[in-house]
Amino acid sequence: MRSRAGWLVLAAGLIVGGCGNAPGDLEACVRTAWGGLRPVAEDRARRFLGQVDEERARCRGGARAAEARRGPWVDWPAYWATGDAGSRTPGASWGGRFFGPDQRGLDGALIDLEYQRVELIRFNLFDNSGTYPQYARGRDGVPGRAIRVWPEMRLPPTHPAFVAVGGAGVQRCPGELIRSRTLTGICNDIRNPLMGATGMPFARNVEFEATFPELGATALARNRHGGRLGLLKPDPQVISRRLLTRASAPDDTCHEGRGLPGSSVAARCAYKAASTLNVLAAFWIQFMTHDWFSHLDEGRNAPTTMAMGCLSERVDGVERPLTAAAAARLGCRAGDRIDVATVAESADPPRFDDGGRARLARAFRSTRNTVTAWWDASQLYGHDATSRRRVPRDPADPAKLRLLVPDQRAAAGDTLGYLPVLGPGDPINPQWAGQEAAAFPDNWSVGLSFFHTVFAREHNLFVDAFRRLAAATPDGDSGLRHPDRPGQVVRYRDVDPDTLFEVARLVVAAEIAKAHTIEWTPQLLYDEPLSLALRANWFGLLDADADLVRLALSTVVRTLGRSRDGDPATTWYSVFASGPGIFGLGNRIGAAGARDAWSLANPDHVNGGTNHFGSPFNFPEEFVTVYRLHPMLPDLLELRALERDPNMVRLKLPVADVARGRATDAMRTHGLASWAVSLGRQRAGRLTLQNHPRFLQALDVPRIGGPTGKIDVAALDLIRDRERGVPRFNEFRRQYGLRQLTSFDDLVDLRLPAGSAERLEQERLVGVLRDVYGRHRCDASKPITEAQLNDDGTPVNDCLGRPDGSQVDNVEDLDTVVGWLAEFRRPHGFAISETQLQVFILNASRRLFSDRFFTSSFRPEFYSHLGVRWVTDNGPDGKVMERGGPARPGGEVSPLKRVLLRTIPALAPELGPVVNVFDPWARDRGAYYALDWKPRPGAEADEAFR
Ligand code: HEM
Repeated sequence: MRSRAGWLVLAAGLIVGGCGNAPGDLEACVRTAWGGLRPVAEDRARRFLGQVDEERARCRGGARAAEARRGPWVDWPAYWATGDAGSRTPGASWGGRFFGPDQRGLDGALIDLEYQRVELIRFNLFDNSGTYPQYARGRDGVPGRAIRVWPEMRLPPTHPAFVAVGGAGVQRCPGELIRSRTLTGICNDIRNPLMGATGMPFARNVEFEATFPELGATALARNRHGGRLGLLKPDPQVISRRLLTRASAPDDTCHEGRGLPGSSVAARCAYKAASTLNVLAAFWIQFMTHDWFSHLDEGRNAPTTMAMGCLSERVDGVERPLTAAAAARLGCRAGDRIDVATVAESADPPRFDDGGRARLARAFRSTRNTVTAWWDASQLYGHDATSRRRVPRDPADPAKLRLLVPDQRAAAGDTLGYLPVLGPGDPINPQWAGQEAAAFPDNWSVGLSFFHTVFAREHNLFVDAFRRLAAATPDGDSGLRHPDRPGQVVRYRDVDPDTLFEVARLVVAAEIAKAHTIEWTPQLLYDEPLSLALRANWFGLLDADADLVRLALSTVVRTLGRSRDGDPATTWYSVFASGPGIFGLGNRIGAAGARDAWSLANPDHVNGGTNHFGSPFNFPEEFVTVYRLHPMLPDLLELRALERDPNMVRLKLPVADVARGRATDAMRTHGLASWAVSLGRQRAGRLTLQNHPRFLQALDVPRIGGPTGKIDVAALDLIRDRERGVPRFNEFRRQYGLRQLTSFDDLVDLRLPAGSAERLEQERLVGVLRDVYGRHRCDASKPITEAQLNDDGTPVNDCLGRPDGSQVDNVEDLDTVVGWLAEFRRPHGFAISETQLQVFILNASRRLFSDRFFTSSFRPEFYSHLGVRWVTDNGPDGKVMERGGPARPGGEVSPLKRVLLRTIPALAPELGPVVNVFDPWARDRGAYYALDWKPRPGAEADEAFR
């Protein structure tokens, strides 16, 4: 069914408000408006794919957008106002605010993104812990997508809290278990105690049948890959050396990332640098991933080791042994070994009948997330009893984390404190000796040291502020309540140190989630549609200055509501949430202006803001894949001194030399403030081919004890994905509702002028891809997927649209990480690719939707009055606005900038002009999403601009 009434208004508006358009665009808009919105797909093979019809593209982006509809890529990046100033249309007239081209472009982009999210929620949730048959078939008359409680999420009888949650009866977490975030993540959802807890299986976002293509367990997988794949086929080290190694510049003095003696500034390690993202952004995301997921247990995989390639190469489509000379020429090492990935379940998966079709109940193998899946700052506070032992409290005030002032920092007047070093009594791996104490200590770097120290200081500053309030008004109402005594006020004087510690943890975790959502991610995806979409996730679109966006989305809701297969529990919900935002959903009961009826005594109020869309929350294996962001790291860190001319680079320190215990030394020697300005001004590496740090290709890992003592982490990224059964790039895209590639040539950005240097470079890299992955003679009788159909409704086959028997690229074999790195055509300002974004659209929303502490339990009863204010206002002293400048929307000082100003006060002058902490600090941000690499006023002398 199509909706027409509302579109009459829109059509009229377009006619009066569309000045500045070509007449054809306006007609396209009227016809599009009359036709209504497309229905949400009811069948996974007929999804939206991010591609609209020509008229819709013309309405939203004129002729340029209509022409850009070529190849596999999504359409919205060609709409008006989705790029820099040049993508906007001048001369809006009356009505332009609502119906003008720029607004149509932005609304169109947001509508496309919302369609993607709705379809992702509908087609891409595959829980690996046994609930999937219920999701597919429903249970007790309830459709699968509306199920909210699962037996698989019950605590087992062996769990220490089994009795407390209800034992063998109905389980519901009570009292102390729901007051704060628990150490192992149980009881976030009070009716599904085990969901998201330490050790639960990673989920999947792809059909279980599509996992582990190397096994050739299905006819489709065999057809798709023709027996060409294996754990070490194509050879991961050959791929690493040929497609991922950073090219050397003529003046390169990199020495595999070791630089020059004495950390001389004369060292050069060429890398492709991002212009709108700094090195803080790279370490931030390492800091985040340590909170969200890990496959390793205390830094270890399985006890056995295996080879990691440098053994074969593909010549004329045939795998041949690599000669010693070829290995030497490539620079790979056949002697590298790595410990085998830990697997949770590898037995043949159970099957169930789904409408006459046998389906898998889980992936062919499963792995466990060894940390909590919640956004709970577990990298700081711990995820089990062992990691908690590495989190020392301040003996003078156990509500605080232990910080101390090393002598060299005291001498510099830097007294807010540094993390203590792990001691002999702490549970550690030998390689962690000498590092700062951290719950998650693996792959420790100076950047992790930076963020752990900053947030430990923030934790303590919150405790200080709370204690000041308690001292001033000891009988005042802290806002906290105990779930066992919901009606009883908890006065400041009643709050014991353990309770305050946990309240501070809630606040710190929420601040981190907020900074990530509205500061890190919008800088990673630096354009207006994503900025609006991310703010909508947190604040809701109602906060944003985008009236028509609201209007447009309410229209989407109406249209979706008429979809024949509309499911209010999932489809509508996601769209509705765009209005108020996900954060704080359900934390108020009753109409605006009326008395808030939310009650701690009512479990449906405590838990009621969450929605798991019928599938218990955990990250999918595929999420880990798109966070393999190692190219963001440079090899050498450019050290500056805050107090002595930050424009000058004083040392070039190899990342490898400021890792593990040496990170701790480097932090104490140079201090948090100088590291801040150094990492804040230096540009991150671009996420593209031939840009992996060289030090990571020769990382010392003595614990493995192989002949070389080294590993190539770039190769390991591919091996791990193969061990964990991530589908290869093309099937990955089809499964996620994106269009497939038909040859490696599709990767070239055809918007670039033919013969331009950039396009020639892309064509060169496509040649290397073809060489490494090879080609084969195709067989049109072999279907290769069920995730999508050809446009004419026929099955996709091995020939990908080419004549039977022709030579086709082995594009189906492309490792997913290599594929997304090779996506040269990206939306404006995107550091990542559209394939990665697709994974984020689903999972970034879901981890907010599923978390009680970000939705219905974001309340003073849990966070305290001070805590709610602190998270809402980015600190204790009310909202703080930027003084003029290009900050938008609303001009509020960004959350992480506020944290840095509190925890490192010496940064105030440097941070003054900074709008987003992850934009290189000396860059002039310019107008409307400019990507130029130009110094801001006052930083003209910065060496980075020479
Ligand atoms: C000093 C810096 C770094 C070092 C030494 C390092 C090293 C490693 C190593 C050795 C592994 C493989 C673990 C295994 O499977 O056996 C790994 C995995 C990984 N790294 Fe890094 N890394 C660094 C920085 C980063 C950064 C900046 C990111 C950005 C997000 C990142 C993201 C990941 C991810 C997502 C994995 C997979 C984790 C998992 O399987 O659970 N790393 N890293």
